[in-house]
Amino acid sequence: MTAEPLLRLEDVTKRFGATLALDNVRFDLRAGEVHALMGENGAGKSTLMKILSGNIQRDGGRIVMDGRPIDIRSPLDARAHGIAIIHQELNTIPAMTVAENLSLGREPRTRFGTLDRRRVLREAREKLARIGSDIDPAQPLGSLSVGMQQMVEIARAVSEDARVLVLDEPTAALSRAEALQLYALIGQMRTAGVGLIYISHRMEEVWQLADRVTVLRDGSYVGTGAMGELSPEDVVRMMVGRAMGDLYDHAPRVAGDVVLAVEGLSGDGIGPVDLEVRSGEVVCMAGLIGSGRTEVARLIFGADRRSGGTVAIDGVPSRPADPHAAIADGIGMVPEDRKDQGLFLDHSVEINVAISSLDRFSTAGVVRRAEARQTVLEEMGRLHLRKNAIDLAVKALSGGNQQKAALARWLMRDSRVLILDEPTRGVDIGAKREIYELIDALARAGKAVLVISSDLPEAIGISDRLLVMREGRIVHELSSDRATEEEVMAYATGTAGRAAGASHGAEA
Ligand SMILES: Nc1ncnc2c1ncn2[C@@H]1O[C@H](COP(=O)(O)OP(=O)(O)OP(=O)(O)O)[C@@H](O)[C@H]1O
Ligand SMILES: [Mg+2]
Repeated sequence: MTAEPLLRLEDVTKRFGATLALDNVRFDLRAGEVHALMGENGAGKSTLMKILSGNIQRDGGRIVMDGRPIDIRSPLDARAHGIAIIHQELNTIPAMTVAENLSLGREPRTRFGTLDRRRVLREAREKLARIGSDIDPAQPLGSLSVGMQQMVEIARAVSEDARVLVLDEPTAALSRAEALQLYALIGQMRTAGVGLIYISHRMEEVWQLADRVTVLRDGSYVGTGAMGELSPEDVVRMMVGRAMGDLYDHAPRVAGDVVLAVEGLSGDGIGPVDLEVRSGEVVCMAGLIGSGRTEVARLIFGADRRSGGTVAIDGVPSRPADPHAAIADGIGMVPEDRKDQGLFLDHSVEINVAISSLDRFSTAGVVRRAEARQTVLEEMGRLHLRKNAIDLAVKALSGGNQQKAALARWLMRDSRVLILDEPTRGVDIGAKREIYELIDALARAGKAVLVISSDLPEAIGISDRLLVMREGRIVHELSSDRATEEEVMAYATGTAGRAAGASHGAEA
């Protein structure tokens, strides 16, 4: 292909105060291709895309479409040029209905000049039908799952005949079935000649979907290549500047006494669940989204009401009325949803990380600030968070670095049991490695670690034992050194024992 690409970004530069987020970055997109944009957390991927979508303004460089320079000063400009984006963090107006959202900026009027509500609904239904969705357009957007909200955004892009569609980590919060639906839509749009820019930290997904990949590192352009010419190892080396080796490699661990003992635990739609995690052990709960893994964690942590069963830590019963009491009993938990992790977005990283451990640094109610700050810096260092980020507001961090800040908070608290719900979601490969090493170190320090992960190679690779959940119960337990992805998936989907090999795409 020698023709002029659909879109070209040339020498794009962006500063945020002292941070050079983008330094002369280039990128080009052809019609009918999926072009992946990869790089570690904070590499500048979302920033580049927000410049393209008019959400932020570049400090330098050019945007060229169909060979002509264009200016994008607002999201409306971007839309006028046929550029649509699905942001990493969806910013929806919860009270607005699906239909209202789909007609935003182009509301049909009655002949009296008032909003034509019937037409808004009818057109919304037509737009959704074009992407094969039967979402009820009268529903409030905020009541839909993230996956459904993305479908609405895609319906809008399709209805406006978008020529460029940017997807910024679209599958991070999707169920398997929703992700498969999204892949199918991406395929259709690609065939229709739309240029798609796809940001993801999931290697397998990128290799499955993309035609080419461009890698950024620390705000700089590293290179572009066709998927056929590059191996995943090549791309990792481009992203992190070195080879990574086996991500999950760790020395054998020896389990000690039972630390966390759960018997007959039940709650709304969950249980009864029995499980044990020993000192020095990493146990992973695997299963499909919705299988009840998070709910079990929340019942243990006192975040939801138990209807029965017992939990003991080192033989001492733990009946927390709320998470504060669970923390006092020696349980720590990093929840799955960043927005739900109680991060105070407008406050500094220092405050966010220190907040749950202030008692450790207080005498008679007076906080020893310098000591607390020093410990925060150490935890940040362990997770490879830039030390000069300590005074930044959490909202100025990239998505993955926010996840690390949430993790740092819990590492600072010394707990006997640590529950990590999807600890590496949205986290780049370098940081994943750090988190795996940290999990291993925590277990070796004698803690009991319970991890929830939807990433099967990860779940198998980092754990000693796997508990497979389905429909609110643990349906199977297996030793991680013998487990295969197929076997885990078969139990998770309920096809185990039926025809072998029937597990893949079982719920599609
Ligand atoms: N509004 C802002 N104010 C200050 N700094 C910002 C702002 N937005 C982004 N940055 C900084 O710009 C850099 C690039 O961030 P960006 O969000 O583009 O990274 P990313 O590649 O999308 O990372 P991730 O994979 O974690 O989503 C980071 O150092 C980030 O802290
Ligand atoms: Mg991002």
